[in-house]
Amino acid sequence: MSESSESEIYRPYPEAVAGSWAENWEEIEARAKADPYTYWEERASELVWSQRWDQVVDDSNKPFYKWFVGGKTNIVTNAVDRHVTGPHKNKLALIWESEDGKTVRTFSYFSLNREVEKMSNIIRAMGVNKGDRVTIYLPRIPEVFFAMLACAKLGAVHSVVFAGFSADALSSRIDDSESKLVITADGSWINGSVFPLKDIVDEAVRFSPTVENVIVVKRTGTEVTMDPTRDHWYHDLENLPISRGRCETVQLDAEDPLYILYTSGSTGKPKAILHTHGGYMVGTYTTLKYTFDIREDDRFWCTADAGWVTGHSYLVYGPLLNGATTFMYEGGPTFPHPDRWWRLIEHYGITTFYTAPTAIRSLMRFGDAWATRHDLSSLRLLGSVGEPINPAAWHWFYDVIGGGKAPLMDTWWQTETGMFQIAGVPAMPQKPGSGGRPVFGQEAEILDEAGNPVPDGQEGFLTLKNPWPAMARTIYGDDQRFVDTYWSTYPGRYTTGDAAKRDADGYFWVIGRTDDVIKVSGHRLGTAEVESAINSHPAVSESAAIGLPHEVKGNAIHAFVVLNQGHTGNRELTEEIRAHVSTHLSPIAKPDEITFTDSLPKTRSGKIMRRVLRARALGQDEGDLSTLED
Ligand code: WTA
Repeated sequence: MSESSESEIYRPYPEAVAGSWAENWEEIEARAKADPYTYWEERASELVWSQRWDQVVDDSNKPFYKWFVGGKTNIVTNAVDRHVTGPHKNKLALIWESEDGKTVRTFSYFSLNREVEKMSNIIRAMGVNKGDRVTIYLPRIPEVFFAMLACAKLGAVHSVVFAGFSADALSSRIDDSESKLVITADGSWINGSVFPLKDIVDEAVRFSPTVENVIVVKRTGTEVTMDPTRDHWYHDLENLPISRGRCETVQLDAEDPLYILYTSGSTGKPKAILHTHGGYMVGTYTTLKYTFDIREDDRFWCTADAGWVTGHSYLVYGPLLNGATTFMYEGGPTFPHPDRWWRLIEHYGITTFYTAPTAIRSLMRFGDAWATRHDLSSLRLLGSVGEPINPAAWHWFYDVIGGGKAPLMDTWWQTETGMFQIAGVPAMPQKPGSGGRPVFGQEAEILDEAGNPVPDGQEGFLTLKNPWPAMARTIYGDDQRFVDTYWSTYPGRYTTGDAAKRDADGYFWVIGRTDDVIKVSGHRLGTAEVESAINSHPAVSESAAIGLPHEVKGNAIHAFVVLNQGHTGNRELTEEIRAHVSTHLSPIAKPDEITFTDSLPKTRSGKIMRRVLRARALGQDEGDLSTLED
């Protein structure tokens, strides 16, 4: 991130502020800082609870905080039910457009509720009850909303797996969560071709002891194999009497689990991050409301897939909790032309557009004309997430897409945090490349290795000081790993794994990961999973994967591979290994480059020194090599 933009300040929002809470944002921020628990209690009071909590936070067993203890609710009570009985009954909850542009499906809050009740009735009839896990492996179609909400309504725990992961990755997530049910589709559309979801599920569940049923939504019409003892077409189930009638939203303890979402860490297998009904609901509702200043006539578009946390919090739950209209587009941004997204913004009058820097950089390359030929004047706010936004992308997004009038909200957060942590509000002056300050009620601090705060302007480790309602409660099935990963580096303090600095105005500048997590096109991958996919190729003895800067993707994966005796590293093998990673992990994890080598730099205890490989690849100083084995 270039330093030069630190002094660049934008104050674009005054006219939109008058008369709203945003006029007093500094006062809200100050009050939340003085007493965060009261701030969160007030936010929770804006939502519906069937029983009020006795205690805002129980911190008697840190870091296993509990929020709104004794309270009873369900996220669906607030995301759907309260709108159906209130003034938003006939307001559009969801607008969806297909990749081929020929189908538009819209759902009012009333009709969304009908769909959710239908799916809840069906999955309950299949024996899904409170606490059971359900894996959802669906493309960007409205059924992903219905499936998530139907699980939540019954108190079942959803585990959405991005529908671009391979059978191996899907299968390990199904097994780890011990899912009873998988909800998928026959296929998904990607740039005009079909990705065979059902085939992948078939392979993934072949040896799964826990999966009793698979529900299949017909989307592409692709031929698939249906196992009559296990697989059911959704359109058949919809016609059965079991699907009909009202379905009560089960009232749950605030701390009952809502979902598991697998995310990559530095080591080992992906971590099953667990979020709960009460706190997650209050956190996503509040942060979306303030950072995007949600308004009654908004059309909110978050381009993330429901398979990632951004899709969970700000495509599905956050907008619905706020009674907003959320928009979902099925396909790729350049299909059939590079102006597809701009066309959608114009056509649907999108007001708030939330996407990732990598997408901006890739669309920017096609030139301004694709965007400027469209009327994008409906845009009132822009948002960015997933990685630091570089000044060139910031300015293009702000000037060409936002017309220089829409504040650009840079939101820093993680799967584990569930909600924004560093993100301004639109009335807060903005600096390109910085998310601004921590959200109301949060405080962040940059520490050095020894745990001392570093002076402003100096780089260090980003930590969060206060607990927050949407914080992950644990790693499902592995409390100790939760403590070790996030709470042990600086006891009592949440460690983010990111490097950052703070400037003299208190603005935070996130630099990037300090561990072996790589952000590739905004997707979070761990070197360990990439290496394990590479190592499963029969010609490979061992490998090391690192992220190197890439103009569009942010980072690209570069792999160093040691081959087994008798194999030669040539172009053919390079392509074979890349394809192997694609099918055994995901196309998003495919290394951009592979270098064959005789050995890898290791410590005496046998740990691969990726930092040495990175320094060598970038032509930088290799640093302290005293622990190097050879
Ligand atoms: C990075 C995505 C800079 C960061 C919501 C974090 C960002 C990781 C930003 C979490 C941002 C996310 N600026 N870096 N605005 N947003 N990151 O779990 O490194 O997929 O630790 O959550 O993305 O990735 P995750």
